[in-house]
Parts: sequence; C-alpha cells; structure tokens
Amino acid sequence: MKTQVAIVGGGPSGLLLSQLLHTRGIDSIVLERRTQAYVLGRIRAGVLEQGLVRLLEEAGCADRLHAEGIPHDGTCIASDGEIFRIDFRALTGTPVMVYGQTEVTRDLYAAREAAGGRILYEVDDVTILGADTDRPEIAFTQNGEPQRIQCDFVAGCDGFHGVSRRTIPEDVRREYEKLYPFGWLGILSETSPVDHELIYSSSERGFALCSMRNAHLSRYYIQCPLTDKPEDWSDEAFWEELRRRIPEEAARNLVTGPSIEKSIAPLRSFVSEPMRWGRLFLCGDAAHIVPPTGAKGLNTAASDVHYLFEGLARYYRSGDTEGIDGYSEKALARIWKAERFSWWMTALLHRFPGQSDFDRRLQRAELDFLRSNASAQKAMAENYVGLPY
Ligand code: APR
Ligand code: PHB
Repeated sequence: MKTQVAIVGGGPSGLLLSQLLHTRGIDSIVLERRTQAYVLGRIRAGVLEQGLVRLLEEAGCADRLHAEGIPHDGTCIASDGEIFRIDFRALTGTPVMVYGQTEVTRDLYAAREAAGGRILYEVDDVTILGADTDRPEIAFTQNGEPQRIQCDFVAGCDGFHGVSRRTIPEDVRREYEKLYPFGWLGILSETSPVDHELIYSSSERGFALCSMRNAHLSRYYIQCPLTDKPEDWSDEAFWEELRRRIPEEAARNLVTGPSIEKSIAPLRSFVSEPMRWGRLFLCGDAAHIVPPTGAKGLNTAASDVHYLFEGLARYYRSGDTEGIDGYSEKALARIWKAERFSWWMTALLHRFPGQSDFDRRLQRAELDFLRSNASAQKAMAENYVGLPY
C-alpha cells in the first residue's frame, strides 16, 4: 500500500489529522490497533477549547458539536465550603464547549467513513521503518497477514503506550515526568448535573470535581489513594464522600443514581522531546500527558495536530519544509504552558499525603488570592479557555 501520510493511532489525534489532511487533498491511512467500538468505548474528558472547535469546523465535523455541545461561560471553584466563579466570557471573551471526547471521536470516524478514508482496524506489530530516511515505511500485520505501507511521512498518534515515541532512539529522546501521589476515582451517572457549570472543589478531605456530558449525564471525580480499586467503592460510598467534599449549596442539589461507569486514573505529567525524528512526527498523548485537572489532554493533542497539519499542507502545496521543520519547537512551546497550568491546578486543589501545615496554608492563600484578584482570575481563565495556537 502507498499513501502520503501514514497515521499510527485512530484516536482523536490521528482521526483529526487524517480528516484535516483530506480537506487539502492529502491522502492518509490510519492504522488502529483496536476496533472502532473499543475506541469509542473509552471514557474521556469533555471540555473543548475554542481552538479545537475551530479545527473541527475546518474538518467539517462540528455540526453535532454545535447542536449538542454546551457552551460554558465560566467555572466554579470551591475551597473549604466557599464557592467562587471564574467568568471566562468576561475575562477572555471566550467560552469553552462541553462535549464528550467520545462524541468528538465518533464524529471524526463518521467523517472519515463518509469521505472514504482508509482506516485499518485491529492491526498488530506496527513497526515504523526508515523514519530517518526519505522513504519511511510501516510494517504491520492484519488478520495474521504481514503488510507494508510506503509513505512520505509518519504521524505517531498512538498515545502514551504506542510504538511511535519508542521509535525515536533513546539517545535522541529527552523525557520529563512528574507522578502524583493520588488518583481520580470517576463515575458516570445518568443523572442531572449538580450545577450548570463545573465545580472544582478543594476540601480538607481531598479534591472533587462535578462535571457533565449533557443535561442528563453527569461525570464526577474524587481524589483517591493510588492503592484504591474501583471495586473498593460502592456507589453509596462514592456519593457520600462526594457530598462531604463539595459546598453545602451544591450538595443539596446533588442527584445521585447508579454509576454506569466507574474507574480510577493515575495522574501524571509527561513530555518527550523532540516531537520529530526525521519523517516521524509525534502528536497528542504519544508525546505528552497532563493530569486531567486542567482538561488539557485533548486540547493539547488538537494544537499538535494543527501545527503538523499546517506544516504538511505547506509542504505538499509548495515543497516548503519550514512548517514541518518548526513543528516540534512550536508544539512544545504550547505543550509546556499547558503542562504548567495542569500542574498548577493539580497542586492548588489536591491534598498531598504528608503535606505540611505550611504547604496547606500556602494552598489556601493561593486560593484566596485567586478568589479575590482579577489578574489572577484572568490568568487562570486565559489558560483554561486555551492559549493562542
Ligand atoms: N498500533 C496502532 N494503534 C495503536 C498502537 C499501535 N501500536 N498503540 C496505540 N494505538 C491506538 C490506541 O488504540 C488509541 O486508539 O492509538 C490510539 C491513541 O489514542 P489516544 O490514546 O486517545 O491518544 P490521542 O489520540 O493522542 O488523544 C489524546 O485522548 O487519552 C486521551 O487524555 C487523552 O484527551 C487526550 C486524548
Ligand atoms: C470531565 O468532564 O471528564 C472533566 C472535566 C474537566 C476536567 C477533567 C475532566 O478538568
């Protein structure tokens, strides 16, 4: 098989890149290890920056997003029972869009299929060959049959556990990582959300987040020890602990019900540099991970895809390599700002095991400064709605 851009990974990064390339007549093949149903079965976050909304519009995949997505003009932060609001619209002129990542991925699959895009599912043994040459190839098996794809470029969109990052030689790669001493226990419930906007709550008992997918589907998280397992938590125990971590005025409105999904995610900050090696370019979780606190995972994948798409489109339009040559530096500049913001929100809102009284007082002082200072709120709002591409 031949294509211009071989894309390893059929998650949001790979699908968005493939669809955007299609709008400029650039051919791609997406190789996905799982089935489409498996990919769509993953529960992920659901806060979209305007930059991602615009990319989905450019990709011709934003109709359902505009019909079903919920614009949020702000978010609430609670600290020890006190609640205050960060007004994105007033501070930045921009809202965020609440729309599940699963739905973004569903819309992208639908668009690729409608356009006759080539997506190979259940591929195994993907190996990227000759990335440091002018003629890279992808070797893989499908249904036990060894196959090859000749291409001009390879986009590594295969997430944190994929093969792309590891294709870059260890002596070329520089990896930066921070692990957090707690996880997030999350549940999905077919109940109405506790509020019309999200509530990030820092309490003496630990962090909690009240989120949503739509008016009938709520998403809640509580910070938990890394040793916990989902089966350790009954629904009743979860609801009781959540009630104790959010302000009384919110707890009164909490509608509980059976969980339809319950899982624990560890929190990690991670960046691998560079994001390019020869004709291999890394996008999204293949190159970086953020703790979910700032809702930046999907949104940093989106800006990577934007930079790579523009660079490849420029190359195929004019042979000019300036865009692809500057990709890694440009993407990393924005990624590190998102890493900093995600770390900052995580450090601000969570209780750290063994935290000193002094450190806890610092957290409370920072929350008090955020509550009372317009410049602090503007800085948070600008990071949350998304820094410019
Ligand atoms: N070969 C082919 N496909 C692979 C391989 C492989 N060796 N390894 C992984 N994959 C596939 C996975 O099955 C997955 O569908 O690559 C895809 C990677 O998708 P994501 O992990 O969702 O990463 P990305 O597309 O960058 O999206 C980032 O997803 O995980 C969330 O929080 C993250 O919101 C962020 C977003
Ligand atoms: C979610 O709805 O899953 C969500 C929202 C905001 C976050 C993290 C997760 O910061």
